[in-house]
Amino acid sequence: MRRYIDSILSAVGNTPLLRLGALSDEADANIYLKIEYLNPSGSLKDRIAVRMIEDAEKEGKLAPGYTIVESSTGNTGTALSFVGALKGYKVLIYETTPGRVGAEKVKIMTGYGAEVRSLPPEDTDHTDKAVFGYKVEMPGRQKCLELERQNPAVWWARQFSNPSNAAAQADMAREILTQLPEGTVVGGFAASIGTGGTLRGCGETLRAHNPGCLLYGVVPSTAKKDLEMGKRMESTPVHGGLLADMVNEGFMNQLIRIKNEDAVTMTRRLRREEGLFAGVSTGANVLAAMRLCRDLGKGSTVVTIAPDNADRYFTAERYVT
Ligand SMILES: Cc1ncc(COP(=O)(O)O)c(C=O)c1O
Repeated sequence: MRRYIDSILSAVGNTPLLRLGALSDEADANIYLKIEYLNPSGSLKDRIAVRMIEDAEKEGKLAPGYTIVESSTGNTGTALSFVGALKGYKVLIYETTPGRVGAEKVKIMTGYGAEVRSLPPEDTDHTDKAVFGYKVEMPGRQKCLELERQNPAVWWARQFSNPSNAAAQADMAREILTQLPEGTVVGGFAASIGTGGTLRGCGETLRAHNPGCLLYGVVPSTAKKDLEMGKRMESTPVHGGLLADMVNEGFMNQLIRIKNEDAVTMTRRLRREEGLFAGVSTGANVLAAMRLCRDLGKGSTVVTIAPDNADRYFTAERYVT
């Protein structure tokens, strides 16, 4: 039997599912955490980078000699840089929060050989914070659109509206269902929202398994009010996408706002108690999972994810303690 892999791309996905000990006891429930930072480039976005690129290749939208472009505050840029390098594409990432998101992420992208262009601060809106990415990426998306229109050998991944994004995260749900004890009913799933691909893709598949599965979206307490439940979101070439569809369809059961300091405190607890060196969105997700446990009652099973690792945030001090 062959025990080695011949491409690191084969190591994307199939991440461990960890049952949290003390926190499950505290909640009188079962909280499972999908450790997505164990993907090769360190985040859940490896899944969508592989899927978006390979689907675009199959559809003839991406071919040798092309440049892959995207606007990203970090993890998607890193993942596209990683997969793009392996497949021989040039990768250009617009970074829309220079100096705000850890400089480490830029170094990881350039380390994989990508070009990173930082947009000038005056062109960007810095009032959005932490895990919530859709507004801050808008100026970069505008640039991607312009580049794509100017040059036919440019492919914009369009993570915020590309159906391959949610399709890739549906695979995560299928893995979760095979990792849980047989017969387990997943009562709820919580995921922080950037594009909405994880909540949509993973959530839809978990709900197909249990139609009563509650889906909680997680955003920082500072997230803009236009993400309120029941409020329509516009969808344009640079706006909306998966997130807008989800909000407009009433797909989520609740939007949970988490304070940055609470997320940091929980992330520290996870590090000390569970040995998880995860980024701050993991703490926010686990807090939302605890909320789900309260809402579902004793003995319930709830799943959430650890999207990325903490070592890409050392220079973003408010995310680390
Ligand atoms: C750290 C982190 N957590 C969560 C998410 C949310 O993922 P999604 O874009 O699937 O909503 C992202 C996406 O940018 C992220 O970088």
